[in-house]
Amino acid sequence: MVLKKKVIKKVDISKTDSSISRQKPNIRLQMSDVENDDYWWNFKGYPPIDVPEFDAIDKNLIINDIQSRLASGSLPIIEIPENLLKAIRLLDSPDFDFHRVADLIERSPGLAGEFLKVVNSPLMSRGYPIHDLKNALPRLGKVKVKSLLYIYSAKMNLKGNSLFDELVADIVNHSYVVAIISSYLSQRFFADPDSAFMAGLLHDIGKLAILKSLSENFNLPKKLDFKVTNETFAYIFPELHEQVGVYIARHWNAGETVEAAVRHHHDVCVDGSMYDDPDMAEKLSYMTNIGDTCARILGKGRWIGPVRLFREAAVIQMDWEQSWTTIEYLNVIPGMVDFKIDM
Ligand SMILES: [Fe+2]
Ligand SMILES: [Fe+2]
Repeated sequence: MVLKKKVIKKVDISKTDSSISRQKPNIRLQMSDVENDDYWWNFKGYPPIDVPEFDAIDKNLIINDIQSRLASGSLPIIEIPENLLKAIRLLDSPDFDFHRVADLIERSPGLAGEFLKVVNSPLMSRGYPIHDLKNALPRLGKVKVKSLLYIYSAKMNLKGNSLFDELVADIVNHSYVVAIISSYLSQRFFADPDSAFMAGLLHDIGKLAILKSLSENFNLPKKLDFKVTNETFAYIFPELHEQVGVYIARHWNAGETVEAAVRHHHDVCVDGSMYDDPDMAEKLSYMTNIGDTCARILGKGRWIGPVRLFREAAVIQMDWEQSWTTIEYLNVIPGMVDFKIDM
């Protein structure tokens, strides 16, 4: 089967965006300082863009194929290289040693550089640079280290697929930015920055798994006469990447609250009774949703329409304090998102 462009026409992509179309609680906020139009979080939206419309039969066939592979458990999983699997197992053991983990990580080309980039980013930097992986790992901590091993593995699974190269880079870099924002916001609003980092880094992992499945199970051309972007992807696969993401997160034992965040990062409709820790499942989902929205406002992700952050369902649910300290806290975020890793 071949993906082909039928016609280019204006598509109202807000219809494909469940984060915009979801039901919001009927809570009215008073006009207050945080609602000032000058703040980056009160965003007028990007102009509408053209998205290629695909042959509907191909689109449905692909969706049905992925759905049936999901149901039968035969969707290709994202494989973790042997040395990194060993590192993850080490991290899961009670008496692990970061030096041994570092030795394993150093066997993967470029991976040490990604760790150093995160540890020296504005999220984690303490004002002096860290150049050595053995110093970086304890600073990052076990959960962040594991998260970085997962996203690196996902990236490597798609390496060399020139059809989706740019899209993979966009998804991975967006995921890093969401992880950084969610983790930063969690320091003030949630109290579990490590889980927020992991949920942020893995929230769109389903997109990478779908691309892997497409590459392996469909006869795609070597080149397309249009760019496969995040917007195209959202139009072809509305809401599918959340389900696939849960499948991958479960396979990796990322934990049920991370699964909740992956499943609900667009709809924020969490049924707490499904989880051992309902509060954590809800808050991690809200935080990931907010991180995703902020990243997209700041141009680090898919197109987004008008947003007023303090009227977003997730922010209302978390009951963020509207104060000058909150404003100062949020004002730092645009300076944190200029983060790009080498692909
Ligand atoms: Fe998403
Ligand atoms: Fe996202």
